[in-house]
Amino acid sequence: MCGIVGYIGPKEKKEILLDGLQELEYRGYDSAGIAIIEGSNLHQFKAIGKLENLREKTKNYHSEGFGISIGHTRWATHGKPTELNAHPHLGQYSYVVHNGIIENYQALKEELQSEGVDFLSQTDTETIVHLFEKYHNEGMEPFEAFKTTVSRLEGAYATLLISEVAPDTIFFAKNGSPMLIGFDGNEVYFASSDTPIIGKAKEVYYLEDGEYGYVQAGEVHLFDKNGEKSFSKQTLSADKISAQKDGYRFFMEKEIYEQSYVMTETMMGRVLDEHIKLDELEEGFFDTINAIKICACGTSYHSALTAAYLFERLAKIRCDVEIASEFRYKEPLLTKDTLFITISQSGETADTLEALKMAKRAGLKSLSICNVDNSSIVRESDAAILTRAGIEKGVASTKAFATQTMVLWMLSLYVGQVKGTITTETLRSEIDAMRHTPKALVVTDTLHARLHRLSKRYLHGHGFFFIGRDIFFPLALEGALKLKEISYLHAEGYPAGEMKHGPIALADSELFTIALMPKTLHYEKIKSNVEELSARDATICAISPEPFELADDFIQTQHSSHPMVEFFEMMVVTQLLALEISVRLGNDVDMPRNLAKSVTVE
Ligand code: AGP
Repeated sequence: MCGIVGYIGPKEKKEILLDGLQELEYRGYDSAGIAIIEGSNLHQFKAIGKLENLREKTKNYHSEGFGISIGHTRWATHGKPTELNAHPHLGQYSYVVHNGIIENYQALKEELQSEGVDFLSQTDTETIVHLFEKYHNEGMEPFEAFKTTVSRLEGAYATLLISEVAPDTIFFAKNGSPMLIGFDGNEVYFASSDTPIIGKAKEVYYLEDGEYGYVQAGEVHLFDKNGEKSFSKQTLSADKISAQKDGYRFFMEKEIYEQSYVMTETMMGRVLDEHIKLDELEEGFFDTINAIKICACGTSYHSALTAAYLFERLAKIRCDVEIASEFRYKEPLLTKDTLFITISQSGETADTLEALKMAKRAGLKSLSICNVDNSSIVRESDAAILTRAGIEKGVASTKAFATQTMVLWMLSLYVGQVKGTITTETLRSEIDAMRHTPKALVVTDTLHARLHRLSKRYLHGHGFFFIGRDIFFPLALEGALKLKEISYLHAEGYPAGEMKHGPIALADSELFTIALMPKTLHYEKIKSNVEELSARDATICAISPEPFELADDFIQTQHSSHPMVEFFEMMVVTQLLALEISVRLGNDVDMPRNLAKSVTVE
């Protein structure tokens, strides 16, 4: 997710903007920029990489007197991290910054280009500033031009625009991406979260979706579809760290709650009414491909295992999965008609990167599914699809796993489309299920409170089995890994049907079994597996839409029409259970012992 700051007033602006962007570093970024207008003087600075590079570029510049200013840290979703793609984007006489995804930017861009507008960047954002100037050049007053521009945007945006034609005004609009307005007397601040303006603004207003307006002479004029509206300010919190966590106890907790929102971004512009659209893949990308091999580590390996079921079931293409550290040394048999997919949240995992280089040396086409553009694995791959999860601070991966799995689900449909192996009807029902996913990821207070209460019963015992069938087996592996990582209790993920082949010997009242029991996939089979365990006095925690009378504990999930929707809902349950057990054990949830966020060594 990108970061936005803005300021209008008499203070020196460069430092306000850079300090504000610094406070947003935790959101992750790959480039940054600022723009300042003082009377007829326009200044713009951009730099890729760390904010220090932007500080270096602006070290000899200081703003003077009253002016308007905007700043941005970019987390690439459209177009590589380059200075040209960095925000603010410039028209002829205006600048814009934006967080979110303009779904209809291609159509807007083509319309503007047909009218002779030249685009410098590959971003969706640049359409905003050119639209504004188009309408202003046609005679509209600046605010009218901005309002008309916003009315044409589809998708998610938090945007600030400043222009030479209105040197005393900042225009703003918010829909789907966060933005707030800070107040300190006649001075007004904008930011994508609290932290940049803590210590500066005294009061704050959190913009709602569909709101837009402008600030001029210390006065904020706020509008929505019904016209101008009044609003009430609230006191701004003073604690920066909790603000970075947006009030959550841990980044991991925040990231679990963010999953619903980021999933919408992951799907935006890709999951369309009748088909999947992946601009990252050129025409014919799969023409020479008859098989898929996915390679990853840890949690990313679990999304890969899940995807293998989907590729074979939906796209009818052979798919196998490798653990990168094993693959590297097994002298694998590789054929050139195999697409080598790597999955990595960080894009820097050493084993995965080396495995990718091996596959490339063997002449295989490569695709990476990653959360960090311009990372080593992305740069090494022939193509990359970004998961758009935003930075993930918690070492235990959550939203990265969720968005990886969604991208792989999309990809399985995409392969079915291009190879003609999926029916229109199946495609439609899969897309419909995808669109229900963000709702399935919403964490309700009831669920979280239930898991908090339940967690007190699972703080000892001689171990956990997470069991599931089909796609719920990789989810069982992932649930076990989450618990191990942050509680330091022993847990194993296991195929439910395998318990009778040995592990059931462990069954007794001290063996905790977390049973994933979806209604939409092999329910009767998993039910009988759990009954076998219960008959041997294992302690059962059943996660299911269907009450299960033999369970010692029971987490009821929603009835759904699709296994993947059940998958995502049960994923949230296992994530929160691990979190609450870890909290009760007093562990460092975000920085568990012995672990690193990115394993860049063998
Ligand atoms: C996930 O919770 C773990 N922290 C770890 O297994 C991680 O998934 C693994 O190291 C792979 O990292 P990557 O996705 O950045 O390649």
